[in-house]
Amino acid sequence: MPTLAQAKDGLRLEAVPLRQIAEQYGTPTYVYSRAALEAAYRSYTDALAGRDSLVCFAVKANSNLAVLDVFARLGAGFDIVSGGEMARVLAAGGRADRIVFSGVGKTVAELRDALVAGIRCFNVESPTEIDRLNEVAGSLGKRAPIALRVNPNVDPKTHPYISTGLRDNKFGVAFADALALYRRAAALPNLHVSGIACHIGSQLLDGAPVTEAAEKVLGLVRQLESEGIHLEHIDLGGGLGIRYANEVPPKVADYLAPLLACFAGRKEQLCFEPGRSLVGNAGLLLTRVEFLKHGETKNFAIVDAAMNDLARPALYDAYHDMVAVAPGTDTPEQVYEIVGPICESGDFLGHDRKLAIAAGDLLAIQSAGAYGMVMSSNYNTRPRAAEVMVDGDQVHLVRARETVQSLFAGESRLP
Ligand code: LLP
Repeated sequence: MPTLAQAKDGLRLEAVPLRQIAEQYGTPTYVYSRAALEAAYRSYTDALAGRDSLVCFAVKANSNLAVLDVFARLGAGFDIVSGGEMARVLAAGGRADRIVFSGVGKTVAELRDALVAGIRCFNVESPTEIDRLNEVAGSLGKRAPIALRVNPNVDPKTHPYISTGLRDNKFGVAFADALALYRRAAALPNLHVSGIACHIGSQLLDGAPVTEAAEKVLGLVRQLESEGIHLEHIDLGGGLGIRYANEVPPKVADYLAPLLACFAGRKEQLCFEPGRSLVGNAGLLLTRVEFLKHGETKNFAIVDAAMNDLARPALYDAYHDMVAVAPGTDTPEQVYEIVGPICESGDFLGHDRKLAIAAGDLLAIQSAGAYGMVMSSNYNTRPRAAEVMVDGDQVHLVRARETVQSLFAGESRLP
């Protein structure tokens, strides 16, 4: 969890009272800790010290420019899945030659823009993408660096919606086809075979499936080598889970150790694409209780954040811990359904939470730094939340709250 400290004026993130943030910027607001982001990144680079490696932050987890800026300053690479994410990385000061581009549906325009920018590698996910990329690169007089994203068919033992490495997932190329596809790609004039990539799923609490996938990848790397196809890097994807409730994910170093062992003595650069484990617990969603409502069978705390702000509970039944920013001393603890104002029964942020709260109080919804703001929407014409970054005793507004007018600025009435 982000390092929240209890002080007289309620919870603080780093040295900043959450209450002050709510007063200054309103609610709901996503709040990130720069120190927590840096610590999470360093847990990877420390564990990888001495090994040629590149940590490519999976931008989809949190694409705020300030978050990308923090990682770019630390020398990170970036894993992107759209032209939009590439534009963000470049706008945030990230280096093009540290970008890897994943995704099953890259458009011609996206491929072209990424080639012109000079990204590090295209993680190609289908035979037809090989052809498309070869053609686009040819039309630009360039050679596109590629890795094939292989699907190792291992079970990551996570939520089915975020499992990506099984045979019937849409991602990657079938393991059995990989060798033939590498041969084909290596023979094409406008491609440069640079690496291999694999990502099996997200919120993994057990590193063993990734190690199993890595061993399969190593077998393929050796086969390629015997055919004269030498790779420069091996990308083992992201996926390491975080603690939302009582989960005990492996420590980054323990997760990486068997992977480092697997490739010990090999000269390829090792790449990783962590998202959640870099940002998830570096952020929270600050919300205010609008009403307490005592229904016939349940107590509801209606807060000003909703499923449009944080979709994970509604979408995956995901658990996010919640704490009162300044629990009232004379308020009794009660069990609440924490819900938003949206007109759907699925609009909940938490079930059965025991909290001492009154209307007007602030709640911190924890572990919201990953797949929070990026998955928000404007459902019910709700302006998206503000985002702030805490840095020591400073707070920076890193995304202004949307205005209602901006939400329909691109719309028009009939002529
Ligand atoms: N690389 C690739 C190719 C990916 O597809 C993903 C995540 C990552 C890296 C980063 O994985 P991470 O380290 O964050 O687990 N919206 C869902 C998670 C979807 C993950 C999709 N792919 C959620 O809120 O749990």
